[in-house]
Amino acid sequence: MGNKAMNSINQIVWHPHVVTRELREKHNGHQGAVLWFTGLSGSGKSTLAGAVESQLANLGAKTYLLDGDNIRHGLCRDLGFSDADRQENIRRIGEVAKLMVDAGLIVATAFISPYQSDRQKVRELFQPEQFFELYVDTPIAICEQRDPKGLYQQARAGKIQQFTGIDSPYQAPENPELHLDGQQPIDTLLMQVLSLLQQKNIIPELN
Ligand code: ADX
Repeated sequence: MGNKAMNSINQIVWHPHVVTRELREKHNGHQGAVLWFTGLSGSGKSTLAGAVESQLANLGAKTYLLDGDNIRHGLCRDLGFSDADRQENIRRIGEVAKLMVDAGLIVATAFISPYQSDRQKVRELFQPEQFFELYVDTPIAICEQRDPKGLYQQARAGKIQQFTGIDSPYQAPENPELHLDGQQPIDTLLMQVLSLLQQKNIIPELN
């Protein structure tokens, strides 16, 4: 961070607000939390995050979905796929998710987020009971076979550089809150995520 940015931060005082996260959570009837889905492109994380959000919304929860492909059209449109750009991408999403959790929402995020250290930095923005790292573990051979956007094919042909899993690394989570087998049917995975959220008292038990 440059000196100018450091100086201006030092002159800004955090302003406490009257309407607190606790009050918003009371109104919403559930806690705020972030469900951080991570996995390779084509692993199924966006589909699963979308299914989880739909189910939570059906239950009356206040939710929001932050998805890599969409966010890269707006908030992060200036970023590419170098290590530094991915780091900045994940940092921004972490800060946005933090605001949303402060607003009392259950936020599902679907970003490759390939680096352990970037995911750890996001985790540290939250209280332990607010952050869930959900690893959608699908072997690259399967992701490549699915290739929903034809990007693996382009990466293999050398038309896309620094593609995760091909010529850019993916560091699997060592201790995720949930390790999901991305080859299982979506409904099975959905139930596993919902069970975790019930166990952790983020949402009430379903009958
Ligand atoms: S991250 O690495 O910074 O977390 P993010 O989840 O935002 O990535 O974006 C990944 C999506 O961008 C992929 O699903 C894919 O559709 C597309 N994409 C384009 N180029 C690349 C690349 N070089 N590596 C990975 N994904 C890419």
